[in-house]
This record gives sequence, structure tokens and C-alpha cells, in this order.
Amino acid sequence: GRTVEYWLSAVEGPCAPDGYNRTCMTFNGTIPGPTIIANWGDKIKVHVTNNMVSNGTAIHWHGIHQRNTLLADGVPGVTQCPIAPGESMTYEFRATQYGSSWYHSHFSLQYAEGLFGGMIINGPANGNYDEDLGTLLLQDWSHIETFNKWNAAKLGRPPSLESSLINGTNTFDCSNSTDPKCVGGGKKFEMVFEPGKKYLLRLVNVAIDGTFQFSIDGHSLTVIANDFVPIKSYTTDSVQITIGQRYDVIVEALSTPSAPSYWLRGGWINRCAPNANINSVTGIVRYNTSSTALPTTTSTVVPSTHCLDEPLERTVPYLPLDVSNIPPPNLLLENLNSTTGGAYFQWTINTSSLVLDWKNPTMMHVFNNDSLFPTPFNVVPIGRSSPSAAPEWAVLIIQDVGAVNLAHPIHLHGHDFWVLAQKGSAKWDGTTASFNTVNPPRRDVATLPGGGYLAMGFLLDNPGAWLVHCHIAWHASQGLSLEFVEDQKDIVMGIPEGEEKQFRDVCRSWGLHKP
Ligand code: C2O
Repeated sequence: GRTVEYWLSAVEGPCAPDGYNRTCMTFNGTIPGPTIIANWGDKIKVHVTNNMVSNGTAIHWHGIHQRNTLLADGVPGVTQCPIAPGESMTYEFRATQYGSSWYHSHFSLQYAEGLFGGMIINGPANGNYDEDLGTLLLQDWSHIETFNKWNAAKLGRPPSLESSLINGTNTFDCSNSTDPKCVGGGKKFEMVFEPGKKYLLRLVNVAIDGTFQFSIDGHSLTVIANDFVPIKSYTTDSVQITIGQRYDVIVEALSTPSAPSYWLRGGWINRCAPNANINSVTGIVRYNTSSTALPTTTSTVVPSTHCLDEPLERTVPYLPLDVSNIPPPNLLLENLNSTTGGAYFQWTINTSSLVLDWKNPTMMHVFNNDSLFPTPFNVVPIGRSSPSAAPEWAVLIIQDVGAVNLAHPIHLHGHDFWVLAQKGSAKWDGTTASFNTVNPPRRDVATLPGGGYLAMGFLLDNPGAWLVHCHIAWHASQGLSLEFVEDQKDIVMGIPEGEEKQFRDVCRSWGLHKP
């Protein structure tokens, strides 16, 4: 097969993506970083150099299964030591799926500072379009470095964010501000449409806290894929997209536009509250490039008042799998709660809060002092007991048992999962009775509704050490993560030939690996 190669340099520097000065962390100096583009089946090779001053880093390729390449999953404390300042690491993996996604730092809150970019893997599309406009990354944005907001976040309710961006750009109104950092001069995101043409947009939510309701005034959206999964297409006036999720949508330009330009909108929904849209974002769809005036269109979309996913009955895979024929799965119940007992507010799963401490050799399960999985701690082993047995099925049921009634976008590494049940304010009855087994949605992020449960079914066919976590960046850093080790005996690290040294070096620079 073909190999596509990219070079990413993580750097720090001044930035003002919406006209407000602050310090960012970026790949190659831009927000977002370069888009990684490959074809289905290609090998993707990314050389990452950490040119930041005092931060380690590690990069995750969101949604990629990393079959036989566990060490490329980019989770510090699970699959690697962080890349130390001045060091480099090459990630090598196969594009085993196709569609739209993103890559991001998996180290602490770094992606909130700008360390992310789009990822496109070309493959067959179940819809026709004339032009691929690429990834459209929706993001909430802080005017203060999020690390500096962490102290506030520590105590409970996450701090508020001041702005939002589309593909790293927006305007912020500085006209009445005396804040010297509010310099203005940002730009609205813009797309140019030709009448009658069909465009593919690859929507990705790269936010740290909010769900977006995406729409374009006067236009409808035909949805053809969710995450890396082609779905039976449906037409709608808006899609609701939570953190880490993707929707591929085809937009047909109007044949006789009634306005020179139209607003494109990302209504921000946070804490599932109506009208909490302080971080709503707009962009512009232009038909007439000689006019630079702002659109004057209004929206007819009903603003969403909840932070659920798109209705499950709409997001059904194009290629169905009849899970009713599947042998009885291992049912794993995980109770989600929170505690204020420690030094900071922590989320817990089955009473433990996962803090990935890559400096502690007993918690670093891969590539630490040459021994694999030295002392599994806070880790759930699943999967077949002997390597010859056929892959089994697991259903991970996350039940919200706490008093904080919040929805959580739950992301699974190494797999897609079938959304077998997604119920708000409900207790799982301990049986498979509530599971939808007739062509259920399949994706890699789904919402656990507040006070309810999410049942995620997946085939244990990818040995590895994988995370399941809430993709709200604050929550993940407050411990809302679970690690499971799948079919430990069969794990293939996937160290590229002749590159053992670089993996050892990554840990050695932290004093964690013997020379
Ligand atoms: Cu998009 Cu564990 O991450």
C-alpha cells in the first residue's frame, strides 16, 4: 500500500484567533493544525516533534482503531510516555476506516489550547456531491489559557469560556472593551457556494465543553455518515453534534439564492440547558463574492434544549449488522458518580477516578522498564481467556448514579460501538430487555444522558489497552476515564521495524526506562 507522511511540530506562541490576544499551543503554528489526508488502506506516518518549553505531549488519532499498532494510540500513561520537550516520535498506523475525524493532544488540557487538526480518509461515499469542502471544526474557546482556569475547575463546576471558533477563526466584539488584550481583527469563517452545486462538509466537534447544533440558514443538510460510519442518509435542517463526534453532510446550494450570503450557525448547548448559548458561533456562506456585507438572514431552526445525540432511529448504519444473532455478551456495569472528598472535584467510575500518572511505573502499562502491564491498577481486564478462543462480545453499561445530572459524551478507544441503549433519568434493569438489536447506530462517541445509562456493545476483536472516557476536557482531567485491557495475551504493540529505540527513548527522557 501507499504511505502518506506528515510532520507536526508542537509549538507555543502568541495567538488571537478571534481578535483576543493570548498564548496558544499549535501544530506548525496554526489553529487547526494541518489536515491529515489519506486514502482508505493507506499507512499514515506522522513525525511529531515537541518544540514546547515545559510540556510533554502525546497525540491521539481520534476514532482510528489502531489494529496491531497499540503504541500509536497516543495516550500518555497507557500507551506511551509523553514526548519530552525537544524529543520526537513517529506514529505509524493504517487507515483501517474511512470518513472524517480529527487528531488531538491527549495530554491534559492541551487540545483546548489549540493542539488539534482535522483528518480525512477518503473512501466510498453513500451520496453524491460536486466538491469536498473538507473538515469544519467547531470549537468553544477560552480567552485565558485553560491551564490557568484549572484551579477554578478543580472545585466543581467548570469555568466558563468566552468565545467559539470555526476552523480556528471568529470575530469577538472589542468595540466597548477597555481590555488591552481585546485587539479585534478576527475573521468569520467563510465558504463560497455556486448556485445548484452540491458540497460535502465534514463537521467535527473539537470543543472542550459544549455540544453544537449546526445549521445553515435557508439550506437543508443531508447526513451521510456519523463518526467513521456511513449511515442511511436523512435530510434535516440541523444536526446536533457533541464533542468528538462527526457528521458528514451534503449541502445543496440554492439554485436561485434570495440573498447574497447566509449565516451558518453552531448553536452552543452546555449543561443541557436551554438558552445557554453564550458560545454560539456563526460563519458565512457566500454566493456573491463581490459583496462583503454580513448576511442578514434569520434561522428557522428550533433551538435545541437538550444535549442528546441525533435521534437514534435516524442514525442507522448503511451496512447493518444484526446484533440479535450475536452470542450473549459479557455485561459490564460501570457506575458513574462524583466526589468532593479529595483535593479537587473528581468524577468516578465504580468509585475510582482514573488519573493517568505516567510518572508512576506501576501505572504505566506499556513500555515501562521492558515489562508489559506490570501491575494492572484501576484497570478492567476483558476478553477471551485463551488466544485460540473466538472473539467475544462485551456490552459496557455506564450508569449515571450521581446527583450531578449532566450528559457526558462517552468515547471508546480502539473500537466503534453499537449504541444498544441510551436512556435519560433511568436505571438499567440488569437485562438486555431495553437493548435495540435491530440495526442500532454505530459510532465512537455517544452521549450518556444525565441520570440514565448508555449501553455500548462491541466485539472484542482488537487486543490492547484502551480508554473509555468522557470527552468534556474538564471531566476527563477530573478522572472520568476507565481503562480496560482487552485480550492481553494477544496484544501487538506495532513498533515500526527498526524503531524500537524511539519508543524506549520517549520514556528514557523522563528517567523511566533503563538505558
Ligand atoms: Cu478524542 Cu481519548 O480522545
